[in-house]
Amino acid sequence: MQILDGKLVSQKVKNDLKEKVEERRKKGLKLPHLAAVLVGNNGASETYVASKVKSCAEIGFTSTLIRLEADTPEEVLLEKIGELNSDVDVDGILVQLPLPKHISEQKVIEAILPSKDVDGFHPESVGRMVQGLPTYFPATPYGILLLLEHYKIATAGLHAVVIGRSNIVGRPISILLSRSDYPGNCTVTVCHSQTRNLKEICLQGDIIIAALGKPGFLKSDMVKDGAVIIDVGITRVADSTKKSGFSIKGDVDFEAIAPKSSFITPVPGGVGLMTIAALLMNTFKACTAKEI
Ligand code: GUN
Repeated sequence: MQILDGKLVSQKVKNDLKEKVEERRKKGLKLPHLAAVLVGNNGASETYVASKVKSCAEIGFTSTLIRLEADTPEEVLLEKIGELNSDVDVDGILVQLPLPKHISEQKVIEAILPSKDVDGFHPESVGRMVQGLPTYFPATPYGILLLLEHYKIATAGLHAVVIGRSNIVGRPISILLSRSDYPGNCTVTVCHSQTRNLKEICLQGDIIIAALGKPGFLKSDMVKDGAVIIDVGITRVADSTKKSGFSIKGDVDFEAIAPKSSFITPVPGGVGLMTIAALLMNTFKACTAKEI
Protein backbone atom coordinates (compact mmCIF):
# COMPACT_ATOMS: atom_id res chain seq x y z
CA MET A 1 0.00 0.00 0.00
CA GLN A 2 1.24 3.45 -0.88
CA ILE A 3 -0.18 6.71 0.40
CA LEU A 4 -1.04 9.24 -2.31
CA ASP A 5 0.47 12.19 -0.50
CA GLY A 6 -1.48 15.33 -1.35
CA LYS A 7 0.75 17.41 0.88
CA LEU A 8 3.88 16.42 -1.01
CA VAL A 9 2.41 16.64 -4.50
CA SER A 10 0.56 19.93 -3.90
CA GLN A 11 3.78 21.41 -2.50
CA LYS A 12 5.63 20.30 -5.63
CA VAL A 13 2.97 21.88 -7.85
CA LYS A 14 3.20 25.08 -5.81
CA ASN A 15 7.01 25.13 -5.95
CA ASP A 16 6.92 24.74 -9.74
CA LEU A 17 4.40 27.56 -10.03
CA LYS A 18 6.42 29.75 -7.67
CA GLU A 19 9.46 29.38 -9.93
CA LYS A 20 7.41 30.24 -13.00
CA VAL A 21 5.96 33.31 -11.28
CA GLU A 22 9.47 34.40 -10.30
CA GLU A 23 10.58 34.08 -13.93
CA ARG A 24 7.64 36.25 -14.98
CA ARG A 25 8.47 38.81 -12.33
CA LYS A 26 12.07 39.01 -13.58
CA LYS A 27 10.83 39.54 -17.12
CA GLY A 28 8.43 42.28 -15.95
CA LEU A 29 5.40 40.22 -17.03
CA LYS A 30 2.00 40.34 -15.39
CA LEU A 31 1.59 38.17 -12.29
CA PRO A 32 -1.38 35.78 -12.03
CA HIS A 33 -4.31 37.30 -10.15
CA LEU A 34 -7.11 35.27 -8.55
CA ALA A 35 -10.27 36.97 -7.28
CA ALA A 36 -12.17 34.91 -4.70
CA VAL A 37 -15.70 35.79 -3.65
CA LEU A 38 -17.10 34.54 -0.35
CA VAL A 39 -20.74 35.17 0.48
CA GLY A 40 -21.80 34.73 4.10
CA ASN A 41 -19.80 33.00 6.82
CA ASN A 42 -20.07 29.25 6.37
CA GLY A 43 -17.19 27.93 8.52
CA ALA A 44 -15.89 25.39 6.01
CA SER A 45 -16.09 27.87 3.10
CA GLU A 46 -14.19 30.45 5.18
CA THR A 47 -11.41 27.91 5.74
CA TYR A 48 -11.22 26.88 2.08
CA VAL A 49 -11.16 30.42 0.77
CA ALA A 50 -8.55 31.44 3.36
CA SER A 51 -6.32 28.53 2.21
CA LYS A 52 -6.75 29.51 -1.42
CA VAL A 53 -5.79 33.13 -0.73
CA LYS A 54 -2.86 32.07 1.48
CA SER A 55 -1.58 29.71 -1.21
CA CYS A 56 -1.69 32.55 -3.76
CA ALA A 57 0.51 34.67 -1.48
CA GLU A 58 2.96 31.77 -0.94
CA ILE A 59 3.70 31.42 -4.64
CA GLY A 60 3.62 35.09 -5.60
CA PHE A 61 0.17 35.33 -7.18
CA THR A 62 -1.90 38.43 -6.57
CA SER A 63 -5.22 37.68 -4.91
CA THR A 64 -8.30 39.67 -4.06
CA LEU A 65 -10.79 38.42 -1.49
CA ILE A 66 -14.26 39.87 -1.81
CA ARG A 67 -16.44 39.21 1.22
CA LEU A 68 -20.16 39.79 1.00
CA GLU A 69 -22.81 39.52 3.70
CA ALA A 70 -25.02 36.40 3.76
CA ASP A 71 -28.06 38.51 2.81
CA THR A 72 -26.39 40.13 -0.22
CA PRO A 73 -28.96 40.32 -3.04
CA GLU A 74 -28.28 38.15 -6.08
CA GLU A 75 -28.06 41.24 -8.34
CA VAL A 76 -25.29 42.69 -6.19
CA LEU A 77 -23.23 39.51 -6.50
CA LEU A 78 -23.87 39.37 -10.26
CA GLU A 79 -22.78 43.01 -10.55
CA LYS A 80 -19.58 42.24 -8.64
CA ILE A 81 -18.87 39.36 -11.01
CA GLY A 82 -19.46 41.73 -13.93
CA GLU A 83 -16.84 44.09 -12.49
CA LEU A 84 -14.34 41.25 -12.07
CA ASN A 85 -15.06 40.07 -15.62
CA SER A 86 -14.11 43.49 -16.99
CA ASP A 87 -11.12 44.02 -14.70
CA VAL A 88 -8.16 43.30 -17.01
CA ASP A 89 -5.86 42.59 -14.07
CA VAL A 90 -8.04 39.72 -12.78
CA ASP A 91 -7.19 36.42 -14.49
CA GLY A 92 -9.35 34.00 -12.54
CA ILE A 93 -12.64 34.33 -10.66
CA LEU A 94 -13.86 31.91 -8.02
CA VAL A 95 -17.16 32.17 -6.18
CA GLN A 96 -17.06 29.77 -3.26
CA LEU A 97 -20.00 27.35 -3.16
CA PRO A 98 -22.44 26.70 -1.59
CA LEU A 99 -24.16 30.08 -1.81
CA PRO A 100 -27.02 31.25 0.44
CA LYS A 101 -30.36 29.76 -0.66
CA HIS A 102 -31.73 33.02 -2.13
CA ILE A 103 -28.95 33.15 -4.73
CA SER A 104 -29.07 30.97 -7.85
CA GLU A 105 -25.74 29.16 -8.09
CA GLN A 106 -26.42 28.43 -11.73
CA LYS A 107 -26.89 32.13 -12.57
CA VAL A 108 -23.70 32.98 -10.73
CA ILE A 109 -21.71 30.24 -12.46
CA GLU A 110 -23.00 31.38 -15.85
CA ALA A 111 -22.14 35.02 -15.09
CA ILE A 112 -18.42 34.27 -14.89
CA LEU A 113 -16.56 34.84 -18.14
CA PRO A 114 -15.46 31.38 -19.41
CA SER A 115 -11.93 32.73 -19.98
CA LYS A 116 -11.73 33.51 -16.23
CA ASP A 117 -13.61 30.40 -15.08
CA VAL A 118 -10.77 28.79 -13.11
CA ASP A 119 -13.29 26.60 -11.25
CA GLY A 120 -14.36 25.08 -14.56
CA PHE A 121 -18.05 25.15 -13.59
CA HIS A 122 -19.42 27.27 -16.47
CA PRO A 123 -21.50 25.21 -18.94
CA GLU A 124 -19.10 26.28 -21.70
CA SER A 125 -16.11 24.95 -19.72
CA VAL A 126 -17.96 21.71 -18.93
CA GLY A 127 -19.02 21.30 -22.57
CA ARG A 128 -15.45 21.80 -23.74
CA MET A 129 -14.22 19.28 -21.17
CA VAL A 130 -16.78 16.72 -22.38
CA GLN A 131 -15.67 17.25 -25.98
CA GLY A 132 -11.97 17.01 -25.10
CA LEU A 133 -11.26 20.65 -26.03
CA PRO A 134 -8.79 22.88 -24.14
CA THR A 135 -10.50 24.35 -21.06
CA TYR A 136 -10.25 24.63 -17.28
CA PHE A 137 -11.00 21.38 -15.46
CA PRO A 138 -12.84 21.70 -12.14
CA ALA A 139 -10.21 21.89 -9.43
CA THR A 140 -10.94 18.73 -7.42
CA PRO A 141 -11.09 16.35 -10.41
CA TYR A 142 -8.03 18.07 -11.88
CA GLY A 143 -6.23 17.63 -8.54
CA ILE A 144 -7.06 13.91 -8.61
CA LEU A 145 -5.59 13.64 -12.13
CA LEU A 146 -2.42 15.40 -10.95
CA LEU A 147 -2.08 12.87 -8.10
CA LEU A 148 -2.60 9.86 -10.39
CA GLU A 149 -0.05 11.34 -12.78
CA HIS A 150 2.54 12.07 -10.10
CA TYR A 151 2.45 8.46 -8.86
CA LYS A 152 2.44 7.22 -12.48
CA ILE A 153 -0.62 5.06 -11.83
CA ALA A 154 -1.47 3.18 -15.02
CA THR A 155 -5.17 3.87 -15.52
CA ALA A 156 -5.86 2.60 -19.06
CA GLY A 157 -8.45 -0.17 -19.16
CA LEU A 158 -9.18 -0.01 -15.44
CA HIS A 159 -12.71 0.03 -14.09
CA ALA A 160 -13.20 3.28 -12.18
CA VAL A 161 -16.19 3.41 -9.86
CA VAL A 162 -17.24 6.94 -8.93
CA ILE A 163 -19.59 7.32 -5.97
CA GLY A 164 -21.39 10.65 -6.26
CA ARG A 165 -22.62 12.63 -9.26
CA SER A 166 -22.12 16.25 -8.20
CA ASN A 167 -21.20 18.88 -10.77
CA ILE A 168 -18.15 19.73 -8.65
CA VAL A 169 -16.57 16.29 -8.40
CA GLY A 170 -18.45 13.09 -9.33
CA ARG A 171 -19.67 13.95 -12.80
CA PRO A 172 -16.53 15.75 -14.03
CA ILE A 173 -14.12 13.09 -12.71
CA SER A 174 -16.22 10.41 -14.42
CA ILE A 175 -15.84 12.27 -17.72
CA LEU A 176 -12.13 12.90 -17.28
CA LEU A 177 -11.34 9.29 -16.37
CA SER A 178 -13.17 8.05 -19.45
CA ARG A 179 -11.40 10.40 -21.87
CA SER A 180 -8.87 9.11 -24.35
CA ASP A 181 -5.80 10.51 -22.59
CA TYR A 182 -3.62 9.92 -19.54
CA PRO A 183 -4.78 9.75 -16.77
CA GLY A 184 -7.95 8.29 -18.24
CA ASN A 185 -8.99 5.55 -20.65
CA CYS A 186 -10.92 3.96 -17.79
CA THR A 187 -14.25 2.19 -17.99
CA VAL A 188 -16.32 4.33 -15.65
CA THR A 189 -19.38 3.55 -13.56
CA VAL A 190 -21.08 6.47 -11.81
CA CYS A 191 -22.98 5.45 -8.66
CA HIS A 192 -25.42 7.63 -6.74
CA SER A 193 -28.20 7.55 -4.17
CA GLN A 194 -30.48 5.51 -6.46
CA THR A 195 -27.84 2.91 -7.38
CA ARG A 196 -28.75 -0.70 -6.68
CA ASN A 197 -26.08 -3.24 -5.71
CA LEU A 198 -23.59 -0.52 -4.81
CA LYS A 199 -21.42 -3.00 -2.91
CA GLU A 200 -21.17 -5.38 -5.88
CA ILE A 201 -20.28 -2.52 -8.21
CA CYS A 202 -17.65 -1.15 -5.82
CA LEU A 203 -16.13 -4.64 -5.55
CA GLN A 204 -15.47 -4.47 -9.30
CA GLY A 205 -13.65 -1.16 -8.99
CA ASP A 206 -9.94 -1.06 -9.79
CA ILE A 207 -10.17 2.61 -8.85
CA ILE A 208 -12.82 3.91 -6.45
CA ILE A 209 -13.49 7.63 -6.15
CA ALA A 210 -15.62 8.28 -3.05
CA ALA A 211 -17.23 11.69 -3.44
CA LEU A 212 -20.56 11.56 -1.66
CA GLY A 213 -19.83 13.46 1.57
CA LYS A 214 -20.75 10.71 4.04
CA PRO A 215 -17.98 10.10 6.58
CA GLY A 216 -16.64 6.53 6.59
CA PHE A 217 -19.20 5.38 3.98
CA LEU A 218 -16.87 3.12 1.98
CA LYS A 219 -16.22 0.00 4.05
CA SER A 220 -13.56 -2.66 3.69
CA ASP A 221 -16.04 -5.30 2.42
CA MET A 222 -16.90 -3.02 -0.53
CA VAL A 223 -13.33 -2.92 -1.85
CA LYS A 224 -11.31 -5.54 -3.70
CA ASP A 225 -7.66 -6.21 -2.90
CA GLY A 226 -5.27 -3.90 -4.72
CA ALA A 227 -7.78 -1.18 -5.57
CA VAL A 228 -6.75 2.48 -5.87
CA ILE A 229 -8.81 4.49 -3.38
CA ILE A 230 -9.41 8.22 -3.81
CA ASP A 231 -11.25 9.84 -0.90
CA VAL A 232 -12.85 13.18 -1.75
CA GLY A 233 -14.83 13.53 1.50
CA ILE A 234 -14.01 16.42 3.83
CA THR A 235 -16.84 16.47 6.36
CA ARG A 236 -16.48 18.27 9.68
CA VAL A 237 -17.36 15.90 12.53
CA ALA A 238 -17.71 17.03 16.17
CA ASP A 239 -14.56 16.10 18.11
CA SER A 240 -14.11 17.35 21.67
CA THR A 241 -10.42 16.35 21.68
CA LYS A 242 -9.69 19.02 19.04
CA LYS A 243 -9.23 22.70 19.84
CA SER A 244 -11.49 23.61 16.92
CA GLY A 245 -14.19 21.26 18.26
CA PHE A 246 -14.25 19.18 15.06
CA SER A 247 -12.10 16.88 12.97
CA ILE A 248 -12.18 16.32 9.22
CA LYS A 249 -13.43 12.92 8.08
CA GLY A 250 -13.28 11.36 4.65
CA ASP A 251 -15.84 9.13 2.92
CA VAL A 252 -13.56 6.11 3.31
CA ASP A 253 -12.96 3.86 6.32
CA PHE A 254 -9.22 4.47 5.94
CA GLU A 255 -7.93 2.23 8.75
CA ALA A 256 -9.74 -0.84 7.42
CA ILE A 257 -9.23 -0.22 3.70
CA ALA A 258 -5.64 1.07 3.55
CA PRO A 259 -3.98 -2.35 4.14
CA LYS A 260 -5.81 -3.96 1.19
CA SER A 261 -5.46 -1.05 -1.26
CA SER A 262 -2.58 -0.46 -3.68
CA PHE A 263 -2.78 3.33 -3.34
CA ILE A 264 -4.95 5.45 -1.05
CA THR A 265 -5.41 9.14 -0.27
CA PRO A 266 -5.51 10.18 3.39
CA VAL A 267 -7.95 12.75 4.80
CA PRO A 268 -6.73 15.32 5.59
CA GLY A 269 -3.59 15.51 3.46
CA GLY A 270 -4.96 14.06 0.23
CA VAL A 271 -7.38 15.41 -2.33
CA GLY A 272 -8.24 18.64 -0.44
CA LEU A 273 -4.73 20.05 -0.85
CA MET A 274 -4.67 18.96 -4.49
CA THR A 275 -7.85 20.96 -5.14
CA ILE A 276 -6.00 24.13 -4.20
CA ALA A 277 -2.95 23.18 -6.25
CA ALA A 278 -5.18 22.57 -9.28
CA LEU A 279 -6.94 25.89 -8.84
CA LEU A 280 -3.54 27.63 -8.83
CA MET A 281 -2.56 25.76 -12.01
CA ASN A 282 -5.77 26.97 -13.67
CA THR A 283 -5.13 30.54 -12.55
CA PHE A 284 -1.60 30.49 -13.93
CA LYS A 285 -2.96 29.15 -17.20
CA ALA A 286 -5.63 31.88 -17.29
CA CYS A 287 -2.92 34.49 -16.87
CA THR A 288 -0.63 33.14 -19.60
CA ALA A 289 -3.40 32.12 -22.04
CA LYS A 290 -3.82 35.78 -23.08
CA GLU A 291 -0.23 35.91 -24.30
CA ILE A 292 -0.52 33.10 -26.84
N1 GUN B 1 -17.18 24.29 -2.91
C1 GUN B 1 -16.68 23.04 -2.76
N2 GUN B 1 -15.70 22.82 -3.66
C2 GUN B 1 -15.59 23.95 -4.38
C3 GUN B 1 -14.72 24.32 -5.46
O1 GUN B 1 -13.88 23.57 -5.95
N3 GUN B 1 -14.90 25.60 -5.92
C4 GUN B 1 -15.83 26.44 -5.41
N4 GUN B 1 -15.93 27.64 -5.95
N5 GUN B 1 -16.64 26.11 -4.43
C5 GUN B 1 -16.50 24.87 -3.91
